[in-house]
Amino acid sequence: MKQLLRSLSYLRKYWRLAAAALVCMVGNVVTSLAVPRLSQTILDQGLGQGNLQVVISLSLVMLGLAAAQGFLQFANGALGARTAQGIAFDMRNVLYSKIQSLSFSYHDRAQTGQLLTRATSDVEMVQRFLGTGLIQLISAALMMIGALILLFTTNWRLALVMVVIIPVTGIIFSLFVRASQPLFKTTQVRLSELNVVLQENIAGVRVVKAFAREKHEADRYERANQKLYDVALEVNRILSLSFPSIFTMANIATLAVYWIGGSQVIGGSLTIGELVAFTSYVMMAFFPVIMMGFVLSMFSQAAASAERIYEIIDTSSEVVEKPGAVLLPPIQGRVAFEDVTFRYYQSGDPVLKDVSFVAEPGQSIALLGATGSGKSTIINLIPRFYEVTEGRVTVDNYDIRDVTLESLREQIGIVLQETNLFEGTIRENIAFGRPDATLEDIMAAAQAAEAHEFITSFRDGYETRVGERGTTLSGGQKQRVAIARALLLNPKILILDDATSSVDLTTEYRIQKALDRLMQGRTSFVIAQRVATVLNADQILVLDKGEIVARGNHEELLECSEIYAEIYHTQLQDTSKDEALNPVAQEG
Ligand SMILES: Nc1ncnc2c1ncn2[C@@H]1O[C@H](COP(=O)(O)OP(=O)(O)OP(=O)(O)O)[C@@H](O)[C@H]1O
Ligand SMILES: [Mg+2]
Repeated sequence: MKQLLRSLSYLRKYWRLAAAALVCMVGNVVTSLAVPRLSQTILDQGLGQGNLQVVISLSLVMLGLAAAQGFLQFANGALGARTAQGIAFDMRNVLYSKIQSLSFSYHDRAQTGQLLTRATSDVEMVQRFLGTGLIQLISAALMMIGALILLFTTNWRLALVMVVIIPVTGIIFSLFVRASQPLFKTTQVRLSELNVVLQENIAGVRVVKAFAREKHEADRYERANQKLYDVALEVNRILSLSFPSIFTMANIATLAVYWIGGSQVIGGSLTIGELVAFTSYVMMAFFPVIMMGFVLSMFSQAAASAERIYEIIDTSSEVVEKPGAVLLPPIQGRVAFEDVTFRYYQSGDPVLKDVSFVAEPGQSIALLGATGSGKSTIINLIPRFYEVTEGRVTVDNYDIRDVTLESLREQIGIVLQETNLFEGTIRENIAFGRPDATLEDIMAAAQAAEAHEFITSFRDGYETRVGERGTTLSGGQKQRVAIARALLLNPKILILDDATSSVDLTTEYRIQKALDRLMQGRTSFVIAQRVATVLNADQILVLDKGEIVARGNHEELLECSEIYAEIYHTQLQDTSKDEALNPVAQEG
C-alpha cells in the first residue's frame, strides 16, 4: 500500500491527461444519472397525461445524452490509456537503469527471470491501476453518491431500503477482498518462479539437451506452471463468487423496492415514473460496488506489484560513486594493491587475504594459482566491480573509490573469463566500447587479436551477425572477438582473464606474440592456465587460497618457489617449452 502511494509520483508528469480523463468520467457519470430522471418525466408527464410533445422532445434530449455519453466514454478511455502507457514507459526505464546500475554482487545473486517479471508484468499491474483503476474508483464513488442522493430526493421512505442493503453488501464485499488480497501477491510470486525456470531453460537449453534432461526440466516447468494455474483459479473462484452475490443483493433490493414502492403506487403516494426512476437508481447505486470490485482487485494486484518493483528500486548498490568523485585523468597505468582483504557479501571467509603488490606502468603481471585461488577476484577489484573489504586499490596513486566509475573503467580494457557478445554484427561487437571507431581501427584490433583471418573468411566479413551471446561463433572465435573489443579501447591497463583458454596452441602462440607487442606501454594482467603464456611476464604472482605465496619472474621463481616449480612442471608436461613457444615452426 505504501509502495503504491509512492508510485503515484509517476502520475505527476501526466496529471493533465489524467485530469482530462477524470473530467470526461465525471461528465459520463452526470449524464448517466440524468437518464432515469428523463424517463420518469416521459412516463409521468408524457404518457401519464397523454402529452406526445413531452415524449418526443425528451426522447430527443435522451438521444443527445446518449451521443454525449458515447463521446465521453471514448475520450476517457483514450486519455486514460495514454496516461497509463506513459507511466509504464517511465517505470520500465527507471527499473532498467536501476537494474543496470546495481553492482556485480547484486547480479551474482539475482535471478534473471525474477528481474524480467518485475520489469514487465509487475509494471503492467501498477500501470493498469494508476492509468485506469484510479479514475474508475473515483467515478464509481461519485456514481454511488449521486445515485444515493437521487434515491433520497425521489422518495426518502423508499430509500431507507438501501440504508439496510448497502452496508450488508459492503460487508460481503470486504470479505471477498480480504480473501483475494494475499492471492494476488502469490500470483506474482509464482509467475516470477515460472519465469525463472523458463529463463534458465532457454539460456541453458544446450546443457539440458546434452544431458537428456528434457523430461525432468519439462516436469519442473509443469510444476511451476501448475502452481500458477492453481492460484489463478483460486483468485477466479473468489471473484466469480463475489459478483453473483453482489448481483443477488441488487436484485433483492429491486424486489424490495417493487414490493414497498408498488404498494405506495397503489396507495397513490408514488407515481409509476418515480418507481421506474427509483429502480434505475437502485441499479446505479449497485453498479459502482461491482465496479469497485474490479478496481479493488486491480488495486490489490498493483499494491503487490508496486512492492516488488520498489524492492529493486530501493536496493542500494554496493559499489557507489562518492559524491564529489573526481575524474581520473589519463593514466600512466600504475596499479597498486595495499593490504587488500576481500570477502564476497561482506561475510564468510576472506577470498583474498592481505594482498599487496605494485604493477609499474608498462609491466606485465601474470597471476598463477590453482582454480579458486582468487585470480579472477583480484582482477575484478581493479575496475571496482566489487568493493574491497579492507585495504585499498590505487591506480596512478588515486584510490579508485575517489574517482568516477566511468573515468576509471573506460581506461581499462578487460576480457572476462566468460565472454559475452551481443546480438548484432561482429563489427558492432568489437566496437562495443568505442561505437565511433573507424573500420580501420576495428580491423587493426581484430588483427592484433588474431581474429581478422577468421572474420574475413565469413561471407559477410565484419558485418556477419552473431547470435544472442555470440552463440554462432566457436568458443575460441568468441574469445578473440572479445580480445579485439578490449584492445580497441587502447587502454593503459589491459586485463585478460583466461582469455586464451579456448584457443589451440598455435593460435594462443600467435595471440601471445601479438599481445607481447600490444602490451608495450600498457600495464597488463594476464591469467592463464598455461605457464607458457606467462613466461615473459615481468612479475608473476603465485596465489594460494587467496594469498600471494610467491612472486618474481620465471627464473627467480623456478629457483625459490616450490609451488611455482610444481605448477610449471605439471602444466608444461604435455608440451615442452620450445614447442609451446614456437609450435608453428614445429608444425612446418
Ligand atoms: N561471485 C562470487 N560470489 C561468491 N563467491 C565467489 C564469487 N566468485 C568467486 N567466488 C569464490 O571466491 C574464490 C576465488 O574465486 P576466483 O574466481 O577468484 O578463482 P580463480 O582463481 O579465478 O579460479 P579459476 O582459475 O577457476 O578461474 C572461490 O572460492 C570462489 O568460490
Ligand atoms: Mg577465474
